[in-house]
Amino acid sequence: MRNRIEALKKEKNAVIMAHYYAPAEVQEIADFVGDSFYLAKVAKESDAEVIVFCGVNFMGESAKILCPDKKVLMPDLSADCPMAHMVREGKIDEMRERFSDLAVVCYINSTAELKCQSDVCVTSSNAVKIVRALPNKNIFFIPDRNLGRFVAAQVPEKNIILNDGCCPIHADVTADSVKALAECHKNAQILCHPECEPEVVAMSHFSGSTAEIIDFAKASDNKEFIVCTEEGVGFKLRSDNPTKNFYFPTPCPVCKDMKLNTLENILKVLETEDNQVEVDFDKRMGSLLPLERMLELGK
Ligand code: 13P
Ligand code: SF4
Repeated sequence: MRNRIEALKKEKNAVIMAHYYAPAEVQEIADFVGDSFYLAKVAKESDAEVIVFCGVNFMGESAKILCPDKKVLMPDLSADCPMAHMVREGKIDEMRERFSDLAVVCYINSTAELKCQSDVCVTSSNAVKIVRALPNKNIFFIPDRNLGRFVAAQVPEKNIILNDGCCPIHADVTADSVKALAECHKNAQILCHPECEPEVVAMSHFSGSTAEIIDFAKASDNKEFIVCTEEGVGFKLRSDNPTKNFYFPTPCPVCKDMKLNTLENILKVLETEDNQVEVDFDKRMGSLLPLERMLELGK
């Protein structure tokens, strides 16, 4: 299967991009593996004609918006991020009416419809930097309340209005489960994604995007880590650091949508070119500016 995938990639000038939450065997064969910001940047810069995007819908959609001339294929079009939809209809208009200088800051984990109504997109690796750089005092941060709260704590000069969305996988990581693990591994450093609930962020030694967690663990002299994010990052953490130990809370955080990316599905879409991501013209034009602003401000 791997040989066939390799041959089709060459034949079609295709690249495979995978998020760190994709299954290990998918990360292993991917040309590019990274966090959401890195993957958006790489998609835009790539000169491939076909991108097989092993992530969830908003990632494939962002790649298509940034590179409309490329074929963007998803191994399974039903791979979705539930949080991407978690903004009540009309809420953004209400906020714009209330605050005349409002900036709507949209986490990239969002639908193209939400991006169209926003001023700038962010990812977990650049949200603090971008919000700090905005001239606006009032910021409506959508859809993730936890990343919004994480940014608010670091940018106290802004009035950050939170929206009640969250990632169900990260919200399931409880402070008690992390405490129990820390009791067993007293020297472990706790690393978390800012999508975790505030109690988990408060007890962590470091919070950052998936790529930042990976970089932190590599640079650290510590030998043990408790990792509060989706279990897929374990593949890179363990390959980079064979002498270090990584523990995940119980129940182990698994994003079932990310796991829909399989070698079988990758091969199938490379063969058939089915599952092309399509974004209609209005949606693409509306969400291009906030995404490009993110790439510029996030540099
Ligand atoms: P990163 O941008 O940190 O990779 O996060 C993406 C994501 O979906 C986290 O749940
Ligand atoms: Fe969405 Fe959470 Fe899955 Fe990330 S882990 S893609 S935020 S559901």
